[in-house]
Amino acid sequence: MKGFSQRSGIQVNVNCTPEQERMRVRVEIALFRILQEALSNAYRHAHTSVVDVYLERKSDRVSLVVQDHGQGIPAEELQRLQTNIGGGVGVSSMRERIHELRGVFEIQSDSSGTVVSARIPLYQKLVRPSRNGKL
Ligand SMILES: Nc1ncnc2c1ncn2[C@@H]1O[C@H](COP(=O)(O)OP(=O)(O)OP(=O)(O)O)[C@@H](O)[C@H]1O
Ligand SMILES: [Mg+2]
Repeated sequence: MKGFSQRSGIQVNVNCTPEQERMRVRVEIALFRILQEALSNAYRHAHTSVVDVYLERKSDRVSLVVQDHGQGIPAEELQRLQTNIGGGVGVSSMRERIHELRGVFEIQSDSSGTVVSARIPLYQKLVRPSRNGKL
């Protein structure tokens, strides 16, 4: 993140739930890839000087939001991206990754900037009571 800020000149504000436990490797990799692609898009397309990143971990889900304050995605392009017809490889591969993990992916944009959000469910181990009702 520091490296990205130095290379791009974009200030990245990271807000995250403190003291997080590790998640499944696939979930962590997916989150990392989304962040990487969203930052790269902000740098290449948004003309923004600040990006806000929010990572919120709850017991049963994790959500990542990457918000820039740039020029936004042109309406036609945004419609293509939201309906997943055409567009670049970047956004469609973010969406695929999240869907593989049964998550929800959204991209919203207007002339004040772009928000990419991903929510992934986290499964807990099930503790089944035994037949006599005792754990
Ligand atoms: N944060 C953003 N701000 C403004 N425009 C954006 C942003 N993110 C994406 N776009 C627009 O949406 C298009 C599609 O993005 P996508 O990441 O899918 O492809 P790409 O960045 O052009 O190419 P790549 O396949 O290398 O990612 C971009 O070409 C750009 O026009
Ligand atoms: Mg891209």
